[in-house]
Amino acid sequence: MNIEATLTSDERLAELDLDQLRQLVGLVEYDAGADPFPVTGWDAVVWSVGNATQAALFYQAVFGMELVAYSGPETGNRDHHAYVLRSGAVRFVLKGGVDPASPLLDHHRRHGDGLVDIALEVPDVDRCIAHARKQGATIVEEPHDLTDSDGTVRLAAIATYGDTRHTLVDRSRYRGVYLPGYIARSSGYAKPADEPKGLFQALDHVVGNVELGRMDQWIDFYNRIMGFTNMAEFVGEDIATEYSALMSKVVASGNHRVKFPLNEPAAGKKRSQIDEYLDFYRGPGAQHLALATNDILTTVDALRAKGIEFLTTPDSYYSDPQLRARIGEVRVPIEELQSRGILVDRDEDGYLLQIFTKPIGDRPTVFFEFIERHGSLGFGIGNFQALFQAIEREQAKRGNF
Ligand SMILES: [Fe+2]
Repeated sequence: MNIEATLTSDERLAELDLDQLRQLVGLVEYDAGADPFPVTGWDAVVWSVGNATQAALFYQAVFGMELVAYSGPETGNRDHHAYVLRSGAVRFVLKGGVDPASPLLDHHRRHGDGLVDIALEVPDVDRCIAHARKQGATIVEEPHDLTDSDGTVRLAAIATYGDTRHTLVDRSRYRGVYLPGYIARSSGYAKPADEPKGLFQALDHVVGNVELGRMDQWIDFYNRIMGFTNMAEFVGEDIATEYSALMSKVVASGNHRVKFPLNEPAAGKKRSQIDEYLDFYRGPGAQHLALATNDILTTVDALRAKGIEFLTTPDSYYSDPQLRARIGEVRVPIEELQSRGILVDRDEDGYLLQIFTKPIGDRPTVFFEFIERHGSLGFGIGNFQALFQAIEREQAKRGNF
């Protein structure tokens, strides 16, 4: 596949080349001709939040994102505010209800802050929908065009787990900043001069939590309806600590640009983090977004300085001789990772560095991962034990363990 076909317009805009993207998110070669549902990459992550006006400022001031577009009452959208923010190739759309009757507020009442839409860029919306329909998908929006003076976008949407959807977007005939109906908008927020240009450059994966016993059904959904393939890691054994367990499998689009790990709770002595999520999200939904950075040390330092809280890693993790032997040489001394609580994992292809935030909203549901890949195509399975123990400590503090 050539660069033009592999990179989305946003990735080209973010000045990422194919090698950088391959390194950042673990791209692989594949034959798109045989794919019944070709996906170019991520289009946008659309959130329903309790206060989009304030969240937009949070993601600028703390996450270093840039406001680029807006829709709201001033642009003729009387239902809600929508703020479009960018960091590298990552696009967040933050939506909050203005009209008390807005359906977004129903979503928020039930789920709290969370993802309503994981939108994907595709080269041929109609081909994808025809295949999805034949395979029995729920089409929540039929293919249609949206047009303004910047051109035309073709869109459709299919339902996935819970109240989440995948909007499919072909923006190849569109020059505007996001979608028709949105205006370009910048912000008066001035980034401190010493802050890096961006704290993350690409979206690596989005994890979904589904109900007990439903994981294989959703893996089948992504295989059959969206032509995703199973990644080797996580073959569905329990991932367990002494007290709680979960099952996890991963599907990916042909080029691995879009990766969806899916978790379900498994029987354990206590309630797992997945059970806690399902209780507080009131059902299945997106659990965490992994944001790829090419300098996780700087990213973590900047976020921590602005008050972001990460899960802690005990010193024993770093002094464990087995771990030391397994991870081998990484680009910085282990002490640099230890002082920040960054985890390391290695597989046959290389290694990765990763760290997880605490939940970012009021409910113990959605959180972020920051990930720096060096060849590894994995998800840090070697860290699951340490990670889950850290999550269990937080769950216990909340009285949910
Ligand atoms: Fe992850």
